[in-house]
Amino acid sequence: MSTGKILGIAFVLGAFGAGWYMGSGHDEAPVITSSSGGASYSGGYKEEPLASNQGAVKKRSTEGQTLIVNDGDSIQAAVKAASPGDTIQVMPGTYSETVYIDKDDIRLIGVIKAGERATMDGLGKLNDAILYSGNNIIIENFKITRYKGNGIMSQAGNNFEIRNNLIMDTGVYGIFPQLGTNGLIEHNVVSGIEDAAIYVGMSDNIHVAYNEVFDSVAGIEIENSRHAIVENNYTHNNTGGILAFITPGLPIKTTYDVIIRNNFIVDNNTPNFGAPGSTVAGIPAGTGILVMAADDVIIEGNIISNNKTAGILINDHGSAANITLDPESDPNADRTMILDNVMLNNGYDTIDEIKAFALTEMHTGPIDIFHIGPSEDSCIINRHRYKTVGIGDFTECDFTNTDSVDSYLIPGGAKPRVIESSERGKIAYLGVCTGCHTYTGRMIGPPVKVIQALYMDNPEGLAEYINAPIKKREDYPEMPPQNYLDAETRKAVAEYMLSVTR
Ligand code: HEC
Repeated sequence: MSTGKILGIAFVLGAFGAGWYMGSGHDEAPVITSSSGGASYSGGYKEEPLASNQGAVKKRSTEGQTLIVNDGDSIQAAVKAASPGDTIQVMPGTYSETVYIDKDDIRLIGVIKAGERATMDGLGKLNDAILYSGNNIIIENFKITRYKGNGIMSQAGNNFEIRNNLIMDTGVYGIFPQLGTNGLIEHNVVSGIEDAAIYVGMSDNIHVAYNEVFDSVAGIEIENSRHAIVENNYTHNNTGGILAFITPGLPIKTTYDVIIRNNFIVDNNTPNFGAPGSTVAGIPAGTGILVMAADDVIIEGNIISNNKTAGILINDHGSAANITLDPESDPNADRTMILDNVMLNNGYDTIDEIKAFALTEMHTGPIDIFHIGPSEDSCIINRHRYKTVGIGDFTECDFTNTDSVDSYLIPGGAKPRVIESSERGKIAYLGVCTGCHTYTGRMIGPPVKVIQALYMDNPEGLAEYINAPIKKREDYPEMPPQNYLDAETRKAVAEYMLSVTR
């Protein structure tokens, strides 16, 4: 999501006053905590009792048919013909189209034959490869390349599985579920993405595992989401490796209960090539893990090496530049919990603002862990192992591992989300339009306020425009057609866009 620069980092010096931690010069024996054995984390997601959830889960039908799409055929035509419960097998070949799935219980499976994949090629012209808003969707085995917007994006689909896809050189987001509950993203290889390779937005109960993400601005991003585990991923050569944060101003206001464990977070020093004005454009190159304003984030068992700004960077909204505080979002990163990690050679060429703050603690030289801003109840074990700045008020954690938490996925599945027709416009607006339009600012498209002035009494005109946009402004790119949305949704989103007030 893009709401102004997140980390143009102009830290407010002196914001941090609680306790000084000298990195050197003490001969006292450190507190050494064994990371094997010991207490396990006892917080995190607790499943709600049956009534609210499981009874209502509709199981995926096992009686569906299999539809075959051959090279040269249209995948979208198969989606049109499919019924809930069906599997669509897409044979190896090249498909240049946008597929939109607005039904439940569809498996869209690329067939791999002797290494040849079903390849979706946007030819550098199409915006999105696969969009869905259905529940219980599975997307597997595709190769997706040369799209301008999203590789795989969902709005409000619950119980999804996105697995074993290769997504390269594809626009703004590689894999981007938004407003979904209970989803698994695993074994994907995603590279060359201008914003986030894997971007979990406003979602709950998410598991991101065994992915390789590289050559992108943000590797894996958990934004305004709760109960997410990011584990066993390899994130390298991005601008930032793994990020957990709150973007202010979105309808969902919190990020908490995130476990980032057993990942390789290496060499994330790629110069930032995010679109100016996008959220991630302000991430300093060389950030291993970023925790901004998110609460209850546990960082455990990662190998974090060669990230030149910092291995782990923790900050509040107040110390990031260009953030408009949201009175409904707590700006502080509380309860960050750092367990054992292997950290090597981080923060060796950091940004001036971090250097300056480090100097207030008489710290010079490399930095593994950097924290700025108010924070309550954060903790760490074996702090003596790392080069640290700003963690003087972190206590010793009273647990050493997260072995008690396998995953935050909901075993029986989440209740399918039903989109009321009154919600349609809002969800499409949040899911699609806010990727490029903000209320007052210039993003990829012009501000919504300007659009409102043009179309105030004319929602029909707006709906027509988005169906087949024509080039209007010299200093903006073209807007991609939104003709995959049905007419009713286009009308609803037009009305919604004209009604928003911030
Ligand atoms: C991939 C980015 C992108 C997305 C997604 C997007 N827009 Fe746009 N939009 C643009 C750009 C760029 C322009 C400016 C185009 C121009 O002036 O030629 C624009 C312009 C517009 C305009 C101005 C038309 C005019 O007559 O001046 C409207 C209305 C609009 N968008 C509505 C929407 C709605 C509604 C959605 C969501 C369904 C949406 N846009 C999604 C990029 C986007």
